[in-house]
Amino acid sequence: MVSVLVLNGPNLNLLGTRQPEVYGATTLADIETMCRDHAATLGLDVVFVQSNHEGALIDAIHAAKGTRAGVVLNAGAYTHTSIALMDAIASVELPVVEVHLSNIHAREPFRHVSYIAPVAIGQICGFGAQGYLMALDVLAARTSPA
Ligand code: DQA
Repeated sequence: MVSVLVLNGPNLNLLGTRQPEVYGATTLADIETMCRDHAATLGLDVVFVQSNHEGALIDAIHAAKGTRAGVVLNAGAYTHTSIALMDAIASVELPVVEVHLSNIHAREPFRHVSYIAPVAIGQICGFGAQGYLMALDVLAARTSPA
């Protein structure tokens, strides 16, 4: 079965209680369940990881090379700051779909900049948890069993 990594960055472990007016009431555990259920319908296996640490996110991207067919990445605030994450993605040659719950382009100007976008195959934002499922659809269409 094709395996994909769903990788979540800093503060996303607090979803459900973190600024619900921005991010909604859905918890990260809810999103994991939604991803697993949806992935099963697509014939995908999901490895779900969250870390608040930039280096751990980079390690997870490195580990995905050769083991996962693609990555769904919500890098949280590292999206707007991390050249190291951008370099990691460029180094592993895996299709990465950038996801954000909120519409980052409708928020503060510093959130309009993404270091992930230039190395991702595309960006999905503003659709809440549904964005993760849309990203899985994209990866399922682009990958075939190894
Ligand atoms: C986010 C948007 C980022 O700007 C923010 O720092 C996050 C969450 C989102 O999913 O909307 O932590 O990635």
